[in-house]
Amino acid sequence: MTEKWIKVANAADVPEDGTLLVHLGTVPVCLYNLAGRILATHDTCTHGQASLADGFIDGEEIECPLHQGRFHIATGKAVGIPCLEDIRTYTVKVEDGEVLIKD
Ligand code: FES
Repeated sequence: MTEKWIKVANAADVPEDGTLLVHLGTVPVCLYNLAGRILATHDTCTHGQASLADGFIDGEEIECPLHQGRFHIATGKAVGIPCLEDIRTYTVKVEDGEVLIKD
């Protein structure tokens, strides 16, 4: 099976130590720029209807804006209550300034 990579943004659009909400088809995905390293998770918190792109990056973690639950960005592990269910992560690569996600 061939790999399918989808362009979701330009790398320059993901602010340093910030987030960017993009879509993979209809699926909301949150991009993160951790000191120049681009990562991606599903955007909707596993605890409720909150967009992690509106959350706060603290080191390697994202804090949900609604109830301050936390996920480890690189692994998607739920690391702060009330989040108990891990969040999906996506494989990302940056090529020629474009952010691509493996579908
Ligand atoms: Fe994210 Fe509750 S919706 S912690």
